[in-house]
Amino acid sequence: MNKVSFFTLILGFALLATACKSRINSQNISASKLLENRYKMLLEYPVDSLSMPRSMTTKTNSIKKVPSKDWTSGFFAGNLWQLYRLTGNPQYKEQAAKWTAFSKKESVNNNSHDVGFKVFCSFGEALKVENKQEYKDVIIKGAETLCTRFDPKVSAIRSWDFNREIWDYPVIIDNMMNLELLFEASKLSGNKKFRDIAIKHANTTLKNQFRDDNSCYHVVDYNPVSGAVRKKTTLQGFNDDSVWARGQAWAVYGFTMSYRYTKDEAYIKQAEATAKFFMTNKNLPEDGVPYWDFKDPSIPNAPRDVSAATVMASALYELYSYTKNKSYLAFADKIIATLNSDKYILDAKINAPFILDHSTGNWPKHDEIDEPIIYADYYFLEALLRKK
Ligand code: GLY
Repeated sequence: MNKVSFFTLILGFALLATACKSRINSQNISASKLLENRYKMLLEYPVDSLSMPRSMTTKTNSIKKVPSKDWTSGFFAGNLWQLYRLTGNPQYKEQAAKWTAFSKKESVNNNSHDVGFKVFCSFGEALKVENKQEYKDVIIKGAETLCTRFDPKVSAIRSWDFNREIWDYPVIIDNMMNLELLFEASKLSGNKKFRDIAIKHANTTLKNQFRDDNSCYHVVDYNPVSGAVRKKTTLQGFNDDSVWARGQAWAVYGFTMSYRYTKDEAYIKQAEATAKFFMTNKNLPEDGVPYWDFKDPSIPNAPRDVSAATVMASALYELYSYTKNKSYLAFADKIIATLNSDKYILDAKINAPFILDHSTGNWPKHDEIDEPIIYADYYFLEALLRKK
């Protein structure tokens, strides 16, 4: 090699290295700018007591808005409280307080188990920021309401009241999430009943909701007269024996959170076993964001569910804090890094109060497929706060 081609080669390597470095830098900068841009749009969304943003059809850019009775109604307020904690910008707090007030009436609505999601994701987040008696009262009232759905014979809280012709007493894995309202209300009020009911529900779920491989069923239906299991089935999964991704994340989150309040080793053992099932599954894509159901036969062409990934990331940060198992930390970090990219952050040109794209709400109903959905953002922000 002569002198000229040697220097040309060195120059080529140097230019390539600089180009790679600036590409990495610009990707990082653009990812955080993309997020900041999306965060600001939450402040621009007009305040209206009957229009909690739930999801968005990206084909038409139309926002699905819901009143407080919808199970997702508390998440938007929760997102604003969490953004206040992440950024320190008081505008988020002002807006959060306005939206939170709209969920108060849900503390006396016993139409479903979702009082936990509705009240705790709004007022529970408010209480982390402002130590107000008013917030505590709503949480305690919500816990009383949720307890009216507990049946001692089944030893579980009834999840839903619809589909009465096919289910007698349905309990869904998602219901584990509502126990946080009960555990926290018990601490706030000193009323042991809330905690006792939460523990009974968790124990019944632990006994009946999991398969031998530690994945879980979505719905377990009980005979309320005998308390026996009638049927193990699904509503939102591909079929009864499939593995609905968000359900697995609810299970890991729910049992990790229940361990936080009880220190019951059986709970953390189940959380770890189901986390392992999820993290090591052959159908989990390399980037950590699952397909909406691990057993959809159309994988790899099935839609993803970002919400399952964010619930799992947040749960794994907490699971890591108890176990010190670094694989949980690494997996949660991987999900957050994956999502913090222009592939998953909602297009900057779309003016809507959402942060992440590509969640799947209810595939069997053809509803909210591959869209921004509010609860994916809620658990993403919670994961960022937990990571911090
Ligand atoms: N039922 C709550 C969910 O869709 O995950």
